[in-house]
Amino acid sequence: MRIRGAIERAADVLLGVQTWGYQEVAGAENNPYSPVPWTALIPMLMSVPKSSLRGSFVDLGCGKGRVLTAASFLGFSRVVGVEIDAELCVAAERNRGSRRYEVVCADACKYVAPADTSVLFLGNPFVGSVLETAMRNNCTDGRLMLCYYNTGKVNRAALDLGIGLTEISHGHNWAAYTVG
Ligand SMILES: C[S@@+](CC[C@H](N)C(=O)[O-])C[C@H]1O[C@@H](n2cnc3c(N)ncnc32)[C@H](O)[C@@H]1O
Repeated sequence: MRIRGAIERAADVLLGVQTWGYQEVAGAENNPYSPVPWTALIPMLMSVPKSSLRGSFVDLGCGKGRVLTAASFLGFSRVVGVEIDAELCVAAERNRGSRRYEVVCADACKYVAPADTSVLFLGNPFVGSVLETAMRNNCTDGRLMLCYYNTGKVNRAALDLGIGLTEISHGHNWAAYTVG
């Protein structure tokens, strides 16, 4: 556990960001801030096919911007994070430095991703009706890849909601799907 914690912090230090930590957020169905471990994030992003890099990457519930930081190295046309908590939005902006990503401070329920979105990333940001609305609003394009991380086993049935997910890769606590 100590070694894993040290790796998490060392990656932040190397990239000049501060993304570790935990923070409660308001809303019964909104999960607290706790970043996807770097050790899971890197294989998740490595599973993205080259062809998807032409579109936009969207992290719903971006917290302090760890996922945005990593995605900004890959050459997506646009990298966008949506975050409901104002303090976390400020932290994500601070962590951006000279990297190219946008932070939208909003409820993901009310957000519709850019039309050219090729990767939708969810690091266990919310559950219940918030998850359902966000998925229905944004998982409409058959070219979309959904990357999902959970702290436990990923439950595809709970995630699918009739939108038709096909698993294309998975790892410890994460899975990637095509939609439709
Ligand atoms: C488990 S953290 C993951 C953060 C980020 N994806 C990462 O891995 O570094 C979930 C994040 O989703 C945000 N969140 C929860 N509900 C939200 C909502 N309805 N709209 C936007 N963001 C939300 C939380 O504030 C928190 O920052």
